[in-house]
Amino acid sequence: MRTITRVSVMKAASAAWRKKGLTIGFVPTMGALHEGHLSLVREARRRADVTVVSIFVNPTQFGPQEDLARYPRDLARDSALLKKEGVQTLFCPDEAQMYPPGYRTFVEVQGLQDRLCGATRPGHFRGVATVVLKLFNIVRPDVAFFGWKDAQQLILLRQMVRDLDGDVRVVGLPIVREPDGLARSSRNAYLSPEERKAATVLSKSLTTAEQAVRAGERDARKITALIRSAVDAEPLARLDYVEVVGQKSLEPLATISGDVLIALAAFVGRTRLIDNVRIRN
Ligand code: PAJ
Repeated sequence: MRTITRVSVMKAASAAWRKKGLTIGFVPTMGALHEGHLSLVREARRRADVTVVSIFVNPTQFGPQEDLARYPRDLARDSALLKKEGVQTLFCPDEAQMYPPGYRTFVEVQGLQDRLCGATRPGHFRGVATVVLKLFNIVRPDVAFFGWKDAQQLILLRQMVRDLDGDVRVVGLPIVREPDGLARSSRNAYLSPEERKAATVLSKSLTTAEQAVRAGERDARKITALIRSAVDAEPLARLDYVEVVGQKSLEPLATISGDVLIALAAFVGRTRLIDNVRIRN
């Protein structure tokens, strides 16, 4: 596996693959890799000639009070995992490569960026959209892979590619979970053993909600109330938001119909976790 740290070198490698007619699959990450990330890597390996994985803990998507400084970083371990998966190229630029002095340009996906997590994390999706567009311009992938774990991110990036006439296909892949249902996340590493047990309330409450919808419940408020009371019953968890929204617009729904997303965020101890379920109607 080749590790590239410079933007110019990554661009040259990508140009050479394209010249040979090879398709490029791309998996952007912030590292601390787990099975969720690896599921994207495996799909990229299956669907493209060359797989590029990026690791960049993007400062512009973290708020001033957030966990940028303590976000888990272990490049040696991540590299070994990617090598084992047969990844050809790891792109890990530093901050000066991505945001050199004088950097001024940001991408906003209006409306979508302010909903759900955007309400609690102002500026977060502006940072995500900006860095992903930059990465797309550097790597020039044919197809890029994202997890439904971050449903709002995926929906917003699809909108960005559509609006800005991008050439990349954005593929969404299912949430990979621990055996007890907890969605895999790099931030799970912050949880104490007690918090780790308590964190299962997120996926459990979503499963209960999903069952209620499948049994015919159409009142979105009843669904969010179910989730709210389940999370409230867990002393170590505090709900940030839960919403039933349309899968394209992310607009809150009063009545459940069409393809809906039930999304939530909750603090377990001091760690903010997200989870969601998609239901087709
Ligand atoms: P990160 O949190 O490292 O996630 C990288 C990719 O892995 C995202 O597409 C995310 O949805 C996916 N992923 C994470 N946990 C998953 C799980 N349990 N199951 C399936 N997929 C999962 O998301 C980011 O990084 C950043 O915002 C990034 C897009 C790299 C921009 O900085």
